[in-house]
Amino acid sequence: MNHAATPPAVPLLFTPWKCRGVSSRNRIVVSPMCQYLSEAGAPTDWHLVHLGKFAMGGAGIVFSEETAVEERARKTYGCAGIYSDQHVPAYRRLTDHIRANGALPAIQLGHAGRKASCGPPWTMFRPLTEEDAANGQPPWQGVSASAIAAKPGALVPHAMDEDDIRQVIRAWADAARRAVDAGFDICEIHGAHGYLIHQFLSPLSNQRSDAWGGDLAGRMRLALEITQAVRAVWPADRPLFFRVSAVDGQGGVWDMDDTVALSRALKDCGVDVITCSSGGINGPLNMAIVPRVPGYQVPYAARVRREAGVESCAVGLITDAEHAEQILRDGDADLIAMAREFLLNPSWPVHAAQALGVGEALDFLPSGYSWWLKRREEIRRLS
Ligand SMILES: Cc1cc2nc3c(=O)[nH]c(=O)nc-3n(C[C@H](O)[C@H](O)[C@H](O)COP(=O)(O)O)c2cc1C
Repeated sequence: MNHAATPPAVPLLFTPWKCRGVSSRNRIVVSPMCQYLSEAGAPTDWHLVHLGKFAMGGAGIVFSEETAVEERARKTYGCAGIYSDQHVPAYRRLTDHIRANGALPAIQLGHAGRKASCGPPWTMFRPLTEEDAANGQPPWQGVSASAIAAKPGALVPHAMDEDDIRQVIRAWADAARRAVDAGFDICEIHGAHGYLIHQFLSPLSNQRSDAWGGDLAGRMRLALEITQAVRAVWPADRPLFFRVSAVDGQGGVWDMDDTVALSRALKDCGVDVITCSSGGINGPLNMAIVPRVPGYQVPYAARVRREAGVESCAVGLITDAEHAEQILRDGDADLIAMAREFLLNPSWPVHAAQALGVGEALDFLPSGYSWWLKRREEIRRLS
């Protein structure tokens, strides 16, 4: 679909996005952002304020950070998790607050696999050692497709056997069920950035010769079985997203043809939206080895949308309202996700509405907030 011919009366960025039983007030998505500030997996007041400000700032969909489906699936001790029923009330507090401020609360479920048992990013994800045990943070064994470390010096993971794989699939389903109880409207399966699902997809990390490795179908099997298990418990009236690393990055093997094939298969499993990221298989900070120009991952979202016939979400250095609008008008994506720009400017949707000429239609904001924003000139004169 190409919307380029005549500009719509309302910018596409500010048209509602409808999928299954939910409707988002616009097409602006806050991308998941790990905070490394959870307590034994549970979110805190930090997360309430951090995510709440994006809902109050006008985003349509607010993703919480990657949330581990098992305790050992966390990267660090500060990572979020939903591996216990006891986590549910703390997440319910977040979803109530996000929804009350007009956005759809969304959760990204993940499993670090071989990238587990590290210090936080400001230690460059240094592997934990026995010395950390003295501070109450003992290292633990990561798991993966094959016993290959994520990078030189990283911990060597345990290569999963059939029972381990079945246990992990059950953990995804259990986590998705808890996310339903916690009130999330959207669930995203994290299949990107070199984490467990990506470790099974890429031949760089999956050197198995059984039915969970080998050819493309074997390497895709974990992604598809997890998706089927999550879809089975995730309500039919709520959307399911899947985040891919569309290409491995430098020295990688997984490519766009593989991503299109995976996206078609995921669509058949009930996935509604593919979020197109890249990289991450060759080390924790190697997110993508493609030139970092604005919209550098949009071509992936465009190809998935056109060739797999599934909705796509574009992400990666999209910071300008006209650019975001053009991506939608070109039919390259259905949703626009942003991370770092929201950290700088939680009210980005308000500025985008002004830039696109619909600043007076700020009714997507909580009413008291929009009343004051519309009167900001008047307020300036009075002050
Ligand atoms: C602080 C921070 C934390 C992130 N955590 C996650 C995460 O939990 N899950 C994920 O898929 N991507 C994560 N990302 C990647 C972003 O979601 C996004 O894909 C990336 O930053 C590119 O978008 P941007 O250019 O708008 O920042 C993180 C990015 C940042 C800056």
